[in-house]
Amino acid sequence: MFTVYVASEEGLRKRVVGAVKNIPGAILNGSSIELRQALEECAAENPGVLLIDDTLLTQNVGLYEQIAGISYPVILIASPTDAGAARRALSIKAKDFISSDTWEQDLGAILSRTATHLEGEVHRDGRVIVVFSSKGGVGKTTLSVNLGIALAKASRQPVAILDLDIQFGDVAPMVGDAPLVTLYDLIKGKKHVDQEMVKRALKRVANNVYILAAPNNPEEADDIRADHVIQILQLLREIHGYVIVDTAPGYTDINVAAFDFSDTILTVCTPDVITLRTVGQALQVFYDGFHYSHDKVRIVLNRSGSKTGVETVDIAQVLESPVSYQLPSDGAYPVRAANEGAPLINQFPDSLLSRSIQHMAGDLVQETEGRQRSASKQPLKISFLTRFKRKPQ
Ligand SMILES: Nc1ncnc2c1ncn2[C@@H]1O[C@H](COP(=O)(O)OP(=O)(O)OP(=O)(O)O)[C@@H](O)[C@H]1O
Ligand SMILES: [Mg+2]
Repeated sequence: MFTVYVASEEGLRKRVVGAVKNIPGAILNGSSIELRQALEECAAENPGVLLIDDTLLTQNVGLYEQIAGISYPVILIASPTDAGAARRALSIKAKDFISSDTWEQDLGAILSRTATHLEGEVHRDGRVIVVFSSKGGVGKTTLSVNLGIALAKASRQPVAILDLDIQFGDVAPMVGDAPLVTLYDLIKGKKHVDQEMVKRALKRVANNVYILAAPNNPEEADDIRADHVIQILQLLREIHGYVIVDTAPGYTDINVAAFDFSDTILTVCTPDVITLRTVGQALQVFYDGFHYSHDKVRIVLNRSGSKTGVETVDIAQVLESPVSYQLPSDGAYPVRAANEGAPLINQFPDSLLSRSIQHMAGDLVQETEGRQRSASKQPLKISFLTRFKRKPQ
């Protein structure tokens, strides 16, 4: 398994990106039509291999020295009849050379041979974090998207965000993306999905951050089953350090499947009596019905500090659990970012909420790296559906 970054002029970029997605073991790290941007992104992501189109190289003579000094392998894709291409390949210390005439046949073998493979570094056991609430509109999607980006930065590992709000999911619009492929396309007519299918359905939305978007039409949600969710989460966990699952309120089969599968459930509440009442009921189901630990189910207080008359200490008392994370009200910034189709944390990195989410991500990364992965990694002992149905009250 290895990651690939593609820097190429637009026509070739599209074709190479499409081809990379079909190469077994290759994960597309990113792509750009600007060489300078590609180098900046690669500095953050450290791809297994960087593929550079010679056309971009000829337009950026000033960057040769910088490219020659980078630590990951670089491959040049160039015309074999261009005498200058070999000289340029030498100047940038390219590890290999692909002919622009025959690249389609050669790409897989050359990438696989030259790239630094992730073996031993692959996160076959990424941490699955579900973001849930019994209430709508409390900030689940805002947290999912921005926590995903913050985790990717803090951990320097790939992060997937799965939108399980299957009827009205809005992870994709929140990152300004209209995905061509959704969760519905991934599972449509299939009993089993595999790693290659999942990789094709993922859309890169930021450095090391990939989303699997909710269906485009609410009717398509009917076809998504709990066993699909389990399969997809397992596959996502194998190639990402963290998997964030955004959800809709409710104990639906697919939500329960995700809860069971997850390592951590962030239960979001806001400081108002109505939300607290339903969150209290939800926690009871988690702790008493499903027997999840207090370490697995954690309370996130969003819009903390809002002058609602309900204090954080009261909340912890009412919920009989500590508040693990507090996220402040951030005025109009989250709405402005969403309206601009850009994640808050990228658009307003110094806003109160962005900083709190970055802090939260730092804590989660430290905790993940520091501790032995716990019981939730063991096979599910009780069928999640059976257990759920035993708890009708
Ligand atoms: N801490 C915050 N400060 C200010 N605005 C916030 C904050 N958190 C969320 N918002 C805003 O609240 C609204 C609801 O947020 P979001 O869509 O993330 O909630 P949700 O729980 O996912 O909602 P739904 O149940 O509809 O999916 C959005 O307009 C978002 O920008
Ligand atoms: Mg939402």
